[in-house]
Amino acid sequence: MNFNAQLGEKAQFVNHTLQRLLASQQINSDLKEALTYTLEAPGKRVRSALVLWCCELVSGQINHNAEIAAAAVEMVHTYSLVHDDLPAMDDDDFRRGRPTCHKAFDEATAILAGDALLTLAFEILAKEIDEPTVAVRLIGQLAEAAGPAGMIAGQFLDTRTAGKSGIENLLSRVEAIHTNKTARMFQCATACGAICGAAEDNQFKCLCEYGLKIGLGFQIADDILDVCASSEQLGKTAGKDAKAGKLTYPAIVGIEKSKQLAKKLADEAVALLEPFGTKADTLRQLAIALLERTK
Ligand code: IPE
Ligand code: IPE
Ligand code: MG
Ligand code: MG
Ligand code: MG
Repeated sequence: MNFNAQLGEKAQFVNHTLQRLLASQQINSDLKEALTYTLEAPGKRVRSALVLWCCELVSGQINHNAEIAAAAVEMVHTYSLVHDDLPAMDDDDFRRGRPTCHKAFDEATAILAGDALLTLAFEILAKEIDEPTVAVRLIGQLAEAAGPAGMIAGQFLDTRTAGKSGIENLLSRVEAIHTNKTARMFQCATACGAICGAAEDNQFKCLCEYGLKIGLGFQIADDILDVCASSEQLGKTAGKDAKAGKLTYPAIVGIEKSKQLAKKLADEAVALLEPFGTKADTLRQLAIALLERTK
């Protein structure tokens, strides 16, 4: 099966879990409509697929805990997009090929839908994970990655204008932004998959490092796509980073160097998978596919 078909299969699995989890909640019907609209939009489900693949890699199968952790990671990621698109943040009108949540509903609903997804992610980990020690580890990973020393740190810096100029200063700043706002959630996905599959310590470490590298590469590719792809292709408005004066890799080093850097990260990520042998082929394909993606 080619890589995209494998990702599609995992995405379908995650979509069913999300639907089931949302259906089991007692939620005000208007709020539920916004949550359903947001969660059912066609996201790629890369982070949640990573949870499932990493669990499969270390244990040979996907288990119930990985299914729940994948849904939790997707909920936190989706919340981050809803808030990222708000007028006070990136002020975007399109996401996943549809009007953003605050456009389709209103701003208050989008803020609360984001809050709801973030909270629900932790509720399902606390209530649905089979083993309390596993639940606590997953909750810790997700809170750390999404919290004020993780994604929020990156998002916060992303909203500020760059301080010191000079290429070295700008590169270290953009690396901090991208690592925190994006790569930490990829690392969290691999860590959660490893935890659910009861990985050994060295396997856990390799997968965490792999996740961080492909996550940084993923955000560099996102910056490149913002410059090179069309809005139709992306399902979100292209060309916004330059207009908003965002600190991105293409803005600092240009498109070609950005591509080289993303390729270097993918190669380093693949090298980390060496101890897993051919069982890690899907993760190898993923590292490359994330660079070659068109949306
Ligand atoms: C978008 O992530 C936000 C970034 C970190 C670049 P994705 O490109 O994974 O978005 P979806 O989930 O497929 O919509
Ligand atoms: C988003 O980065 C990162 C998070 C949501 C945490 P971007 O702002 O570049 O993502 P897009 O381009 O809007 O998807
Ligand atoms: Mg942003
Ligand atoms: Mg944005
Ligand atoms: Mg972007």
